[in-house]
Amino acid sequence: MSPSANQSEQQVRPGYVLRYAFHERLWHWVAGFSYIYLLLTGLAFWSPWLFWLAILVGGAPVSRMLHPWIGLIFALGVLQMYRMWASQMHVTQEDKDWFAAVGHYIQNEDDKMPPAGRYNAGQKSLFWGFFVCMILLLLSGIVMWLPEYIPWSWRYLRYIAVLTHASAALLTIGLFMIHVYMGVFAERGAFGSVIRGEVTLAFAKRFHPRWYEEITGPPASPRK
Ligand code: HEM
Repeated sequence: MSPSANQSEQQVRPGYVLRYAFHERLWHWVAGFSYIYLLLTGLAFWSPWLFWLAILVGGAPVSRMLHPWIGLIFALGVLQMYRMWASQMHVTQEDKDWFAAVGHYIQNEDDKMPPAGRYNAGQKSLFWGFFVCMILLLLSGIVMWLPEYIPWSWRYLRYIAVLTHASAALLTIGLFMIHVYMGVFAERGAFGSVIRGEVTLAFAKRFHPRWYEEITGPPASPRK
């Protein structure tokens, strides 16, 4: 698979490069919107203190009926992301170096970071975190959705499912908060990439220098 969205797939403005093709954006938002629905309804089921959230998304019976079906849509969205991006998410030695230098990243000293490719090590971790949590949520969710098909002698599966579902959901909440913060507030220009598909060349060069070089060719003089 190519290291980036095929640059000829969509017209981009001068000074911009294509970061996400239309199908990548589409599946990202299938996962994003379905996740928000699952989050609101899931929190409503989790605690009486948060039950009012169910009112916002159709009321209690509708939420209970839709939650597992929207869960299937979320799973499909994440599986599509896996199909599109997993080959670019392998952890490399550069990612380990990136993590070792993460203190500079936190302090916005991007020039001191080992150059990241299309995805940095943090984004790769988020990807795998969401993928593993989706599998856990899907398996445990199916057990809780169709308990009548589980023989009484296997009832321990239900107890495991309840625990797994809540734990994996809590983990995704942590990932989700970091992801939205990074994508919307921390990396200025990233949000436009999942809306219009494009980022400025300056964004690509600052946050993903190796990817920038893959698209534009190596620099005339070696990077310092
Ligand atoms: C609903 C709120 C969400 C917002 C505002 C949001 C925002 C973004 C942004 C701005 C990017 C581009 C980052 C970049 O390439 O520099 C992105 C990419 C991505 N998003 Fe989301 N996203 C949301 C929900 C989700 C959900 C629920 C998932 C998990 C299933 C997800 C998984 C990903 C992945 C795997 C990428 C590519 C790697 C990365 O950039 O982290 N996103 N998102």
